[in-house]
Amino acid sequence: MTNSALLHSFSMPAKAESDFINIVRAEGSSLWDDTGKRYIDGLASLWYCQVGHGRPELLDAMRAQMEQLVSFHTFDPFTNGPAGEVADLIASKSPHPDGRVFLGCSGSEAVDSALKIARLVQQRRHGGTVAEPADRQIIVRRTRGYHGTNFGGTTAQGLHLNREGYGDLVPHFVEIPGDDIEAAASVFAEHGERIAALITEPIQGAGGVHPPVEGYLEGLRRLCDQNGSLLIFDEVICGFGRTGSWFGSQTFGVTPDMMTFAKGVSSGYQPLSGVIVSREISDELESPEFLLRHGYTYSGHPMSAAAGIANINVIENEGLVDRANRIGERITAAASAMQADGLITGFRGAGALWALTVDGDAAELKSRLIEDGLVLRGVDDWLAICPPLVISDADLDEMLDIIQARLQNG
Ligand SMILES: Cc1ncc(COP(=O)(O)O)c(C=O)c1O
Repeated sequence: MTNSALLHSFSMPAKAESDFINIVRAEGSSLWDDTGKRYIDGLASLWYCQVGHGRPELLDAMRAQMEQLVSFHTFDPFTNGPAGEVADLIASKSPHPDGRVFLGCSGSEAVDSALKIARLVQQRRHGGTVAEPADRQIIVRRTRGYHGTNFGGTTAQGLHLNREGYGDLVPHFVEIPGDDIEAAASVFAEHGERIAALITEPIQGAGGVHPPVEGYLEGLRRLCDQNGSLLIFDEVICGFGRTGSWFGSQTFGVTPDMMTFAKGVSSGYQPLSGVIVSREISDELESPEFLLRHGYTYSGHPMSAAAGIANINVIENEGLVDRANRIGERITAAASAMQADGLITGFRGAGALWALTVDGDAAELKSRLIEDGLVLRGVDDWLAICPPLVISDADLDEMLDIIQARLQNG
């Protein structure tokens, strides 16, 4: 029997509200439910809480902003200081310090914005009109990609179950396999002149934490350059230190034309997301008389911006980008030992974003680990680890010990 009107995300609506775990408090890398049970947050909530829970620096910044201006929009002719400041800060950490930054609230909004801007730029470059759009609309997606659940992101996903059941999605999308650059080259050979953009995560996150195979992202960059197509990196999980650099783009040494971000930009203290666009794209958008007819009511929301600024400052001041690499070293040492002992079949990742692969059902394993006081994500044969970047070595070791003990004891 259900006892709440709340429809949960990615859940069975028939599940009773009383069967959900009610989280009532969080601090650092720890969570507590309404029975007082403590959990280690091994997934930084949903891949986003870089600076840990309950940080006074962020709360103070949000409180100060709230007392000044809670909310006012940034449609023409208005702006606000925090929105401009967070955009500058984000651009300065990215490979496009001279680019521009569009702001939204969710990763899905960021993805839809990037896809629309890509098509817009191509329409403008290739003489498209409302009556006769230029034939440059194809978006290439990758199998296993996850790009959120708005119509654009749903269509851009390479996780087919998430696309099913919604009727017709957005036209002109083509899928390439996860890792095969030759297959990508064939798609470009066939459709190159019609490809507006290719979208990929640097490390595919929700599809199983798949780092790019050697040379793959470089290959995509080359194909896009050769065909006049735009390369979009969806950095919603990879951004803001997660992979051991500010952006996955820097970790893998490949610069896209546009990058989406969300999650770690504000560590979830307020909803904040956006798109960084290169100087070339900015030049296109800055054409005289051009009006960008796109935006959200809460684009540039001052509370979100204030949280983002404080969060980025904490990441900077506490060296959390490099901390991601130290976390990765500790996880790989423990994972190597577990693999040598036959407890796991393998592991993959970078920085503080990893998956362990197991023989058997990782979703079931995830449920057992929650009983043990550890929250991770488990799907098919992979178990994702993505802790807050502030996690202590002691909590990290406790997390890895819990996993090892559960695998040993079944
Ligand atoms: C790579 C990527 N893009 C987009 C999204 C969608 O973000 P949101 O759920 O904030 O809309 C996610 C969410 O996990 C993601 O991992």
